[in-house]
Amino acid sequence: MLVLGIETSCDETGVALCDDRLGVLGEALHSQVDLHALYGGVVPELASRDHIRRAVPLAREALAQAGRTLADVDLIAYTQGPGLAGALLVGASLAAGLGIALSRPVVGVHHLEGHLLSPLLADPRPDFPFVALLVSGGHTQLMAVEGVGRYALLGETVDDAAGEAFDKTASLLGLAYPGGPALSRLAQSGDPKRFPFPRPMIASDGLDFSFSGLKTAALQCVRRHEPDERLRADVAASFQAAVVDVLAAKCLRALEETGMTRLVVAGGVGANAALRERLQREAAGAGASVFFPPPRLCTDNGAMIAFAAALRHGPGGPGREDFTVRPRWDLASLAQ
Ligand code: KG4
Ligand code: ZN
Repeated sequence: MLVLGIETSCDETGVALCDDRLGVLGEALHSQVDLHALYGGVVPELASRDHIRRAVPLAREALAQAGRTLADVDLIAYTQGPGLAGALLVGASLAAGLGIALSRPVVGVHHLEGHLLSPLLADPRPDFPFVALLVSGGHTQLMAVEGVGRYALLGETVDDAAGEAFDKTASLLGLAYPGGPALSRLAQSGDPKRFPFPRPMIASDGLDFSFSGLKTAALQCVRRHEPDERLRADVAASFQAAVVDVLAAKCLRALEETGMTRLVVAGGVGANAALRERLQREAAGAGASVFFPPPRLCTDNGAMIAFAAALRHGPGGPGREDFTVRPRWDLASLAQ
């Protein structure tokens, strides 16, 4: 079964073609980072307009890469939410239009389910069940995943998402939006021990996170010192060390509490090299294994949407869904 996946929930337009047995056959992506950098964050109206410009050419590119045509597509999948309403509507409209033109079923996919299942595109591929750490610009969650569609929320951030904290701290250090990758590059030349930033909620019971206090601590630190190159690198390294400490501690606790032996990391912050290295080391020490999607599939993309639809709907496909988007949509509500 061949699935065309369309992702337009935020600031990346992604289209990919995925076969339920062969995996990703073609993928095309356009990042709007340059468009929004000028404003220091995503401007929803500009995002929607750019998705409109990009989506059809990207669909053509993904099909050409796969050596297929629209007539070969069995199922059309689009990100139904959560995300920016106007941006989501672009993908929903394209999917609905293609569905009508080709007489193919159309399904809406939960963006986080896409992230959650994307490590299954990696080699080696994790078996169920596993603990999933979802760390993106908008979400920080730990889920217990028993199978496709069987997700239980173990804990989540009570304020900022980890990626949001990365981006805000990066902006404080004068790095362009989205600052996560730039901050982690700067951190490589800094001293992670110079500033003992708080590790919020690290010792508390439960699996919730909090990152807004950490961001404020970084802000106060920058205000107290001369913001030279050394300071910027040391703040970046100390901030990253604090985030990695908290994420690693909670992941290990989640493995312990669920008795599961596999940890899967997904979402943009999952591309962070320090986090990857730390989780690999700590999980191995605890007798567990860690799975990451390839870095290009950590951030938003069409492949994870096509793949989640292929797993969830299987050959045969469902009937056509309503044309709708859900800008706010709780992942736990997918539980079957
Ligand atoms: O999953 P994603 O592409 O979009 C959302 O659904 O939010 O995640 C984007 C987030 C941004 O906050 C970005 O700064 C962060 O992931 N990110 C990183 C890295 N690469 C992306 N954060 C830390 N280190 C990285 N290497
Ligand atoms: Zn995402």
